[in-house]
Amino acid sequence: MAAEEVAGPRATDARRVVLVTGANSGIGLALCERILSEDNQIHLCMACRNMQKAEAAKSELQLSHPGADISLLKIDVGNINSVIQAAQEIRQRYQHVDYLYLNAGIMLNPHFSLKAFLSSLLSRKVFTMFQTGEGLLTQEDWLTDDGLQQVFMTNVFGHFLLIRNLEPVLGQAGCTSQVVWTSSSNARKSAFNLTDYQHSQGQESYSSSKYATDLLNVGLNKHYNSKGLFSSVVCPGLVLTNLTYGIFPPVLWTLITPIMWLIRVFMNSFTLSPYNGTEALVWLFTQKPESLDPMVKYLSCTSGFGNNYVTSCKMDVDVETAEIFYQELLKLEGKMKEKSDVTGDHS
Ligand SMILES: NC(=O)c1ccc[n+]([C@@H]2O[C@H](COP(=O)([O-])OP(=O)(O)OC[C@H]3O[C@@H](n4cnc5c(N)ncnc54)[C@H](OP(=O)(O)O)[C@@H]3O)[C@@H](O)[C@H]2O)c1
Repeated sequence: MAAEEVAGPRATDARRVVLVTGANSGIGLALCERILSEDNQIHLCMACRNMQKAEAAKSELQLSHPGADISLLKIDVGNINSVIQAAQEIRQRYQHVDYLYLNAGIMLNPHFSLKAFLSSLLSRKVFTMFQTGEGLLTQEDWLTDDGLQQVFMTNVFGHFLLIRNLEPVLGQAGCTSQVVWTSSSNARKSAFNLTDYQHSQGQESYSSSKYATDLLNVGLNKHYNSKGLFSSVVCPGLVLTNLTYGIFPPVLWTLITPIMWLIRVFMNSFTLSPYNGTEALVWLFTQKPESLDPMVKYLSCTSGFGNNYVTSCKMDVDVETAEIFYQELLKLEGKMKEKSDVTGDHS
């Protein structure tokens, strides 16, 4: 079945094309709203897996931005066929994609460790715990129909395949493209293992996948900067969305939400609202990609007074590991291509 264009005219080439995955809710939807406020002349492509939710999100945006040029694209980044078909559709629709926001992401069945929380609360690790969630969460994971780990496929490999299959419309001479990943401060080196980069053995698939994103960002810049493609990673801070609502039962959220707003007074990474969480993603929209540092992560922050700002931190990644991981992903791409005939065509 061909990827489905639900609505929207073909984008005119004069308009900058901005494509956002996971655009129907949370940070993705807030990002679409803020980018339209930043520049109402763009063509926005909302890439989502559920077309009903996508239609509802598009209608919401058209209320606040009447006349905005918005189209929908069906993509399930957890499914190889869907990614390949969506990429094919994008290549047909656009001559050039200017911004590719790789935002869709999952955390499967998170479990919160109260024991780790209480022991960190009384230790010097308390600040790191609030900033990165280190040690607090474990998750489940399972295999996709393609036989890959679901979290790795959705958060990392599906997006990697998308980039690979969009090469003809990304970064041409004199016309750069910017790839922006919604990573996390929860990305931790200790959760990631090169020999098990899909994280089939551990219980921190989310942390591992976000660390993999950070590594991939370095590899992409190395291999694609000369072709006019630039990649950056962002942490939106702690944002209350469907993803985080899955961590506790609703009743507990009702109790702890006011406490979180209090904690925000001294924890600037508690951005809490999707609007605040998109600060760094929107900031990158206004930057010259050549001026960005591929070894840093850009962080959305909100001060105790509610002011948003962007800061950056050096990532705990080394270039050599990033390159080995990048080569592993190319090998996996080749392997999946052998299994099925649909994984695109690269020279
Ligand atoms: N919230 C936070 O505190 C936080 C912190 C750090 C990083 N992040 C990252 O921010 C990104 C956005 O998450 P969010 O917090 O805004 O949560 P969210 O509201 O659950 O948004 C996730 C989006 O990804 C989409 N998605 C999930 N699996 C997909 C798939 N297989 N194919 C296509 N789309 C898929 C979801 O679509 P459906 O609606 O169809 O499920 C939804 O639109 C994620 O990458 C997340 O890891 C979030």
